[in-house]
Amino acid sequence: MRRKLVAGNWKANGLMADARALAQSLASALWHDEVDVAVFPPFVHLSATLDTLRASPVAVGAQDSSEFPAGAYTGEVTAEMLADLGCGFVLIGHSERRTLLREDDRLIGRKLSKALACGLKPILCVGETAEERDQSRAEEVVLGQLNSIWKHLGADGLSRLTIAYEPVWAIGTGRSASPQEADEVHHWIRNWLVQRLGLPARNLRIIYGGSVNRTNAAQLFACKNIDGALVGGASLKPDEFYEIHLHAAASRLR
Ligand code: 13P
Repeated sequence: MRRKLVAGNWKANGLMADARALAQSLASALWHDEVDVAVFPPFVHLSATLDTLRASPVAVGAQDSSEFPAGAYTGEVTAEMLADLGCGFVLIGHSERRTLLREDDRLIGRKLSKALACGLKPILCVGETAEERDQSRAEEVVLGQLNSIWKHLGADGLSRLTIAYEPVWAIGTGRSASPQEADEVHHWIRNWLVQRLGLPARNLRIIYGGSVNRTNAAQLFACKNIDGALVGGASLKPDEFYEIHLHAAASRLR
């Protein structure tokens, strides 16, 4: 059985004192061992968060990493630097980066290759816009994004990813996908993975992101194909993030 992953993407929020306070609250909480928990602070808060959570089961990851190796790439943060710092996970291809920073599937493929080569565990984000869903193109768009990555990484690289399905229309809008809508897309992704990887595809986690909160988490986690959540806004509130993790733990007992 796949372990659930509850991941908190802090995005570009908070100053150092906020990151320290948030990490402190997480460090003092009692986490269930059957659920994996991770947080993704901004780059400049990574060191402080890692230090604060050193003795805690909460893993720390980065929100992005460079396609480049070390060298003359002003402003970039390399995957090797992140691994050296102690980051386990990295988010790649978040829709905000795809849209605001014009990241395309080719760039995302190169970033994934670099992250994997440096020993990071990438979480690849995919998802359709509201317009694409209205045109009944959600499946085509999501599987198209995955196909590009598969062509770039091959089966070996693909088999080392976590996939986060984050419909763009559900991110930061307060309008989560319904459990049925999310579960359907996760089912498409699972079938697509099985066709490419065979049985090992059953071990890959597919997590859901988009307005996950303490109220809808239990229903989402009850779905057969949903292996956890990538939480944005609610992950900035330690009590709510903790409660979401409790729902993930409870879903394993059902
Ligand atoms: P919200 O939970 O704020 O909708 O954000 C989701 C997200 O983008 C996580 O990566």
